[in-house]
Amino acid sequence: PLYVLILAGGSGERFWPLSRKSRPKQLLSLFSQETLLEATLRRLDGLVPANQILILTNADQESSVRALCPSLPKENIIAEPAKRDTAAAIALGAGWIAQRMPDATMIVLPADHVIKDTASFQRTLRVAAAAAEETGELVTIGIKPTWACPGFGYIEQGAPLQLADGPAGPPVFEVVRFREKPNAELAESFLAQGHFRWNAGMFIWTIRSILSAFQRHAPELGEFISRLHAGEDFAAALRNHFPQLPKISIDYAIMEKATRVLVVEAAFDWDDVGGWAAVAKYLKCDDAGNHGNCDVKMIDATNNIVFTSEPRTVALLGVSDLIVVQTPDAILVCNRHEAEKIKQLVAMVPPEL
Ligand code: GDD
Ligand code: MG
Repeated sequence: PLYVLILAGGSGERFWPLSRKSRPKQLLSLFSQETLLEATLRRLDGLVPANQILILTNADQESSVRALCPSLPKENIIAEPAKRDTAAAIALGAGWIAQRMPDATMIVLPADHVIKDTASFQRTLRVAAAAAEETGELVTIGIKPTWACPGFGYIEQGAPLQLADGPAGPPVFEVVRFREKPNAELAESFLAQGHFRWNAGMFIWTIRSILSAFQRHAPELGEFISRLHAGEDFAAALRNHFPQLPKISIDYAIMEKATRVLVVEAAFDWDDVGGWAAVAKYLKCDDAGNHGNCDVKMIDATNNIVFTSEPRTVALLGVSDLIVVQTPDAILVCNRHEAEKIKQLVAMVPPEL
């Protein structure tokens, strides 16, 4: 049986002032009525039943997550008591699943991506699950890179792999190497070589395989899963043991070290929507390259991005390359080429913002 873990505990400062501690990217509806988290859940309709979906979040976001996901049993939404990054969250999720179904295949999904083609998405995951079950290897989803983004993991794709049997769908390849967040120069060389893929941040593996990978490459986390697997009280482990776990992402803890990894080519569209600049393409655009979600009046203004949280008129005169974001209690005006520094700015604003 398939179980899905949705990781919904990230902070997402890059969308400030729309995003807040209690409302990071996955809880925003940037360009539709639906939040990215709701869309993530909707994409699983018909693939796995609600009682086989687990959402891990944190205390700041728990009540919003519960309100947005009423179809899930109450016990399938869990708030982590401390922020320990994705390896610990995945270990926790694997332990939760192991207590219910030790023979399960686990799918790990981020909660904050934009994917439109649900049918292809499900087809890709079915192939990945079949590959994980047949080979016992750790399976990733590879996205064809369009630029040398240093913010992603890169997968060096090797030889194609023919599964003995499995559903029809996109091809499966062996992975030569997994490299998390390379520097810009290395990312350029990966792109130039042509056989590198972006890691979509989705992982598919059997509980048995991920447990042994943790035991080998991150023994403290491996032991945490083993104890849950052996029947340790979940609530007590979460409260007492989880906050002590090492703080590291799954990409560094397991994926870069694992020797047997496969990649399935994503048959679907994929967008990580990394910040305001990435939102532009979903907004209305004028002839001068200005994007906005509201009524924007401009003279001699080019390549600006304007976003207001309620209907407003914004007037721009003689300015270029700005990001302007308005919310009821804060306004951001930023050069669009320096948007990655918004994180530093957020550190300076009062905590309630
Ligand atoms: N529950 C929980 N707890 N979720 C978390 C935590 C945590 O401590 N930290 C992050 N998450 C969630 C985020 O909300 C997101 O949905 C997902 O886990 C991935 O975390 P990010 O912080 O967004 O990772 P990243 O974008 O830097 O990198 C990952 O994703 C890229 C693709 O978007 C890596 O897997 C890269 O290799 C990959 O290319
Ligand atoms: Mg991310």
